[in-house]
Amino acid sequence: MNTSPDRVIIFDTTLRDGEQSPGAALNVDEKLTIARALARLGVDVIEAGFPHASPGDFEAVQKIASSVGSEADSPIICGLARATQKDIKSASDALRPAAKPRIHTFLATSDIHLQYKLKKTRQEVLEIVPEMVAYAKSFLDDVEFSPEDAGRSDPEFLYQVLERAIAAGATTVNIPDTVGYTTPSEFGALIRGIKENVPNIDQAIISVHGHDDLGLAVANFLEAVKNGARQLECTINGIGERAGNASLEELVMALHVRRSYFNPFLGRPPESTEPLTKINTKEIYRTSRLVSNLTGMIVQPNKAIVGANAFAHESGIHQDGVLKHKLTYEIMDAESIGLTNNQIVLGKLSGRNAFRSRLQELGFELSETELNNAFIQFKEMADRKKEITDRDLEAIVNDEIDTVPDHFRLELVQVSCGNNARPTATVTIRTPDGSELSDAAIGTGPVDALCKAINRVVQIPNELISFSVREVTEGIDALGEVTIRLRYEGRTYSARAADTDIIVASARAYVSALNRLHVALQQKEKTPKMLQV
Ligand code: KIV
Ligand code: ZN
Repeated sequence: MNTSPDRVIIFDTTLRDGEQSPGAALNVDEKLTIARALARLGVDVIEAGFPHASPGDFEAVQKIASSVGSEADSPIICGLARATQKDIKSASDALRPAAKPRIHTFLATSDIHLQYKLKKTRQEVLEIVPEMVAYAKSFLDDVEFSPEDAGRSDPEFLYQVLERAIAAGATTVNIPDTVGYTTPSEFGALIRGIKENVPNIDQAIISVHGHDDLGLAVANFLEAVKNGARQLECTINGIGERAGNASLEELVMALHVRRSYFNPFLGRPPESTEPLTKINTKEIYRTSRLVSNLTGMIVQPNKAIVGANAFAHESGIHQDGVLKHKLTYEIMDAESIGLTNNQIVLGKLSGRNAFRSRLQELGFELSETELNNAFIQFKEMADRKKEITDRDLEAIVNDEIDTVPDHFRLELVQVSCGNNARPTATVTIRTPDGSELSDAAIGTGPVDALCKAINRVVQIPNELISFSVREVTEGIDALGEVTIRLRYEGRTYSARAADTDIIVASARAYVSALNRLHVALQQKEKTPKMLQV
């Protein structure tokens, strides 16, 4: 293994740390869909999950290893494991089908974690780490070790732990700012200190992992690159535990747009145009939308790179400048992240072939059945909406690849409301045993009435914690996208649906979230409590 690559390795942990975001739980099919998108995006490593955490996680890692990671040119597939034999063995079993498997094992090194969480001494940590790295190494060659909470660990102790991990065979040492506490200059100095004080550091790649509690994760990582880090652990849209992880799209585009600044830190001349990562930046937007749709984690409009406003110019002065010369107010091209300019694409009279080829141009690969179903949705939409844009098509396709099983299926929804009226909803739902049940309810508003009517049929207790509507496109006939999050026994379940009628979209999103909850309840018996890292 080349331990000082002249480019930056992108390690994506959307499916592991990202999935730890409250409400972002994904089923196995959804994880596979995201893993395929990550491979298309060109990430070097996919951290597919934490196999010992639950049978569902084990299955997801195994399936990703066999279907996305089985070829010689596939990304490395990685599984997380605490520094215990059981965890490491599970990770190795789940990763067996991968052509390039990696075990990522971790143990905390900060005094706070040692004293209160692990109840272990520093000496014990110094013994466990090499023992567990060697154990992981007995299964496969590619082993990554993380000293959890490195950002708050005593650097002198950290150097000793890392030296032992590398001596035992770790090929990557990952430095996590677990609680998002460090500042960029401190984090850069930490990486420099490791480079200068760990005697065998040239035998491993230095990686970084960090959370965004102070909004500094991306800045910290860029300082780390300047000081010798060559692997960045990040997630799409920056999702993850608490305030999330460093965002993949921000890191990649910072390294891309400012490559003449970063080149010299990687031993290149400033003018080199050689990309600093292997990411196909044109896949960024599509991957971001997919992750947002499947996790239900909405991207804030002003989010860098992938937010709805990231390339919009509102002020007259800016618009004037951009019209005169793009570079006046734009540092990157919207097309470089895969945003298309194509506004009006298809309409009522467009045929199947035009539909299929536009989807192909947008980069969607659908099976024949998915294409047929999507085409039916397209025709229904075209009856109600004159112009179908790329964003509409994207919403249709995302609905189609929504893989929550239809245990409960919405057959009919009807709502009456207005001023001086009591909002009333009637629904008909096909239940898992195949029967069709109808019920009605009165609520404080149409959505409340709707949810109450659905609950009367479905009968799964839950608390609706958020409801949001976003327009997919502009205009009075715009497609409305509804995202719903509900809670049951402390866990959050989310789902989305799009329709020109926001009441229909709300009903579909709510039923879909209930289906997720239903699946989780079915799996609960065989699934031990999820471990949190
Ligand atoms: O934040 C963290 O420390 C982690 C480790 C498991 C790498 O997620
Ligand atoms: Zn983390």
